[in-house]
Amino acid sequence: MLQKYKIDLFSDTNSELSSGMRAYMMEAEVGNEVAGEDPTVNRLLDRVCDLLGKEAAVFMPSGTMCNGVAFRVLCQRPGDTIILDKTAHPLHKASGLISGLVQSVPYLVDGKRGVFTTEQIQPIIEKPFGYNISQPRVVSIEQITNLGGGAIWPLNTIQDVCSFAHKNGLKTHMDGARLFGAVVETGIPAATYARSFDSVWIDFCKGLGAPMGAVLAGSKEFIEEAWYYKFQQGGGLHKAGILAAACLYGLDNNLPRLKEAHETTQELAKLLNNIPGIILDPQVVEANIILLKVEQSKSTAFFLEKELKKRSIRTLAVDTNTLRMIGHMSITKENIQTVYEAVSDILENSQNV
Ligand SMILES: Cc1ncc(COP(=O)(O)O)c(C=O)c1O
Repeated sequence: MLQKYKIDLFSDTNSELSSGMRAYMMEAEVGNEVAGEDPTVNRLLDRVCDLLGKEAAVFMPSGTMCNGVAFRVLCQRPGDTIILDKTAHPLHKASGLISGLVQSVPYLVDGKRGVFTTEQIQPIIEKPFGYNISQPRVVSIEQITNLGGGAIWPLNTIQDVCSFAHKNGLKTHMDGARLFGAVVETGIPAATYARSFDSVWIDFCKGLGAPMGAVLAGSKEFIEEAWYYKFQQGGGLHKAGILAAACLYGLDNNLPRLKEAHETTQELAKLLNNIPGIILDPQVVEANIILLKVEQSKSTAFFLEKELKKRSIRTLAVDTNTLRMIGHMSITKENIQTVYEAVSDILENSQNV
């Protein structure tokens, strides 16, 4: 029997589907996406091209497919190197995508909360050429970082890293699963963040409340190539307008609610910070991701996750000491009070597990 949790902080993909979105999907005009003839998909792609300042775009079922397809286009040969932070999502949560599908070598940067600098990637990019050496081809960043802890990449760091990469003949990729999270916090337009990248994608099921759907964008040539791999990975979507409608609805109706979801998460972080045994700097909760540490002498993240589940609160124990909570628009002020009380109670009564 599948369990539905009363409070689901596992991911922002777990927000409720609204009746308004469902109704809008029902009315969607559809056509053949594979032939470029779905009017609702085309409307979404035009909208995203405008938002991101890119020439062309393609609809994808998931962010993982966007990363896989983009990396395959941007790398030139099997064995090429992709440079990304050690916490990057495709390294940890995509069934070995980089080696298994893209056939590339990941170079892991030891960034700070998922954010790295030009100085950190300089040695790998400037290493001497050799026929026996894997060529660095792509620098990939996550805006905002997920397993890095919800950090927002500063625009000047992005510009610096990307311009260094380009000067050295590398391509740049932005995993924008939560790009709008950065946009609503900083006021910097999505197109300004996207400008430094050869490829960028955004997700509609994270924060924007759609059941699924992502859009990958770039130059016309890049998107032409992306179509090849999209098909190869089974990404021909036929009458996808019904899903694209949800994405459009998310942009119009849920994007304006994103800031509020961040504020609720930030309030939760402040509450949790008062609990003995929880190590968390609320200052670093820049958007909607909380990555907290459980003091070793008190308990473990696994224990806390298990005990919270018993109270119908779902979180994610990332490792023995680290617990992740992701806020979204279905989380209310009452919910965060409940979570705070539950965590306090569990830790107060835990016997050094
Ligand atoms: C930063 C990041 N990239 C990629 C993905 C994968 O997206 P999807 O679940 O749509 O495949 C996620 C999912 O949570 C993510 O957080």
